Amino acid sequence: DIGKSADQSGCNAFVVGGFVRDLLLYRKNEDIDIVVEGDGILFAKAFAATRQARVHAYSKFGTAVITLDDGFKVDVATARTEYYTAPAALPEVEKSSLKADLYRRDFTINTLAIQLNQSRYGTLIDHFAGQKDIKDKTLRIIHNLSFVEDPTRIFRAVRFESRFGFSIGKLTVRLIENAIRMGVFKRLSGARAMGEIIAILEESDPVPSILRLHEFRLLAALHPAMALTETTTQLLMESRKALDGYELMAEDSNCLRWLVYFMVILTPCTSGEAREVCRILRLAKWQEDLCVRERQQADHCLKRLAKELPLDNSILYARLHVFKTEVLVYMMAAADSNRTRKAIAHFLSRLRSVRPEIQGRDLKNLGLPPGPRYKKILIQVLDAKLNGLLQTKEDETAFVA
Ligand code: CTP
Repeated sequence: DIGKSADQSGCNAFVVGGFVRDLLLYRKNEDIDIVVEGDGILFAKAFAATRQARVHAYSKFGTAVITLDDGFKVDVATARTEYYTAPAALPEVEKSSLKADLYRRDFTINTLAIQLNQSRYGTLIDHFAGQKDIKDKTLRIIHNLSFVEDPTRIFRAVRFESRFGFSIGKLTVRLIENAIRMGVFKRLSGARAMGEIIAILEESDPVPSILRLHEFRLLAALHPAMALTETTTQLLMESRKALDGYELMAEDSNCLRWLVYFMVILTPCTSGEAREVCRILRLAKWQEDLCVRERQQADHCLKRLAKELPLDNSILYARLHVFKTEVLVYMMAAADSNRTRKAIAHFLSRLRSVRPEIQGRDLKNLGLPPGPRYKKILIQVLDAKLNGLLQTKEDETAFVA
């Protein structure tokens, strides 16, 4: 019925971009983007009516979001017909508005489209040789000014290269180098650069991409103190192991993977430099503190643990409970012995969630007058419980009594 909706609203509709790319790569992709030659909103409404789905239309942009009853979202955009006021050297864009729309995109592999209208349903449209580049595993931009127009595409190239196991084409590499040399990053806001860095660091294995950013001197272009060393690279690889290990053992992982990697990238910087980088890239204050102050505390704690272990659970708890998950994962990666790593893993998987069952009102029922003593007593109960001395609430009550 999607093709029928397109026909009825008198337009041509196409699925485009990442969804088609991933279809050809046999990869899962749940974001559907539709481009419409004609009235995108009219089409979105017609299609939504066939499914009793909700539509949010943004008439100013000619776009709409359809939410199907299973929560699935479809983005609909009206093909942008305005042309680039392109330099004379660029080829004239043909008068197909789909083609003009696709020409504005980043890489050829993202320019494939599949028509939805009934008579041409399922036809693959390949204006910029995207299929060939998918076959050749190559990332190529569509026109030479692509990176100058939008420098975030340099980060996207690096991210896609690693995600799909592709290589950036020779000319495209040269254009990246040129763009960086021209200083395109001076025009890119810190927040947008950080958005792209986060996207890279959230990929399943960002380490090759981080090395690639370093190779292009992209990190240093953002701030000269962001230079990758051999030690940092090792630590990044250890971080990936630590993160994967943590996610296996954590019931509900609330760990920001990117933040662990970013903290590691900043390890060669002085505190002052690290804070400067965080400010340029518009990190939140708590993220900056985590990367600078908490990380230093973590390094200090690691040194201490190396001397102190083995420790009673209660003392291990006292040493580690002050740290956020991201810092604990960093500590697992940075630990210089398996013994320390295991102790941190033990804290994360077992000790961290231990709480006394007994509460203030139980203490009151035992006839203890309320006051600051309660806190001390509950800490003593927790310590005893951590050390395996108390199993049940009755044990805790007897302990307090
Ligand atoms: N796009 C672009 N330039 C950018 C960002 C996006 O040309 N700086 C285009 C791409 O061609 C892409 C489309 O916009 O196909 C949608 O981008 P995005 O939502 O990032 O989707 P994906 O390419 O699928 O990337 P991801 O899988 O990371 O979501």
